[in-house]
Amino acid sequence: MTIYLNGQYMPVTEAKVSVLDRGFIFGDGVYEVIPVYSRRAFRLSDHLQRLQHSLDGIRLTNPHSLTEWTEIVNELIARNAPEDQYLYLHITRGTAMRDHAFPNPAVAPTVFVMSNPLLTPAPELLTSGVNAVTAQDNRWLRCDIKAISLLPNVLLRQLAVDAGCAETILIRDDDFLTEGAASNIFVVKNGTLLAPPKDNLMLPGITYDVILELAEAHGIPHQVRKITKAELFDADELLLTSSTREVMAITRLDGKQVGTALPGPMFEKIYQYYQEFKRDVMRTQ
Ligand code: PDD
Repeated sequence: MTIYLNGQYMPVTEAKVSVLDRGFIFGDGVYEVIPVYSRRAFRLSDHLQRLQHSLDGIRLTNPHSLTEWTEIVNELIARNAPEDQYLYLHITRGTAMRDHAFPNPAVAPTVFVMSNPLLTPAPELLTSGVNAVTAQDNRWLRCDIKAISLLPNVLLRQLAVDAGCAETILIRDDDFLTEGAASNIFVVKNGTLLAPPKDNLMLPGITYDVILELAEAHGIPHQVRKITKAELFDADELLLTSSTREVMAITRLDGKQVGTALPGPMFEKIYQYYQEFKRDVMRTQ
């Protein structure tokens, strides 16, 4: 596996970062995950725009222009074998003596990019759907920043794994749905696709945007608004989206069946539109 670290391409086994890196010490950095299909980065400009939003959110200057990022991304794709990959971009505030405040003068940020094989969900999971649990969303109030300090998300996701489930769905203030521990969540009720609004309490998902665009393009009734905990539990269908899992149906929530306990008609449609869209984009890019 070839990775990119601070201007150089190298085998992952040779890549070294200082123990004083602020990413290691404070989790002081941001990241992106970009799917790559047939060696083409999917929605690259949207991902790079969100990266800029995250960098602005932590007051870190973007170390690269869009052109430079595009070059790095394409070079790394070319240097790794799989046709379908996912790229992980990681930028920290760099290496300095430990002090919570930003290094002054600023130091060079650490820039790390790696490629992993993209393993989209197994066909049997698409047929059966997956199980999820719910938990209180106990994260900070800037969940719109894709921060590398993911301890709450890690602990929340583990609750799902401990229960033999695929995801933890997060409920803020015992009142409304935000997102999954590492995904966005859609609710389906009476044929309408409901999505929570993009605000400071959830990550603005790139897949989420694609799904809403597809709903618009195909005339699927949809609404972006706050979704209550009661509505979550009363859903006809639940969908989970992310760059690595694409779109999946959640068919059991906290042990109780969602709708018929099988992926429903909204999932079938959205999944199909998503696959078609992917193929079209890859053909025309
Ligand atoms: N996570 N919400 C959270 C908290 C996430 O971590 C993710 C994705 C999403 C979905 O966003 P997108 O559609 O842009 O992938 C929503 C990635 C896949 C990860 O951390 O590995």
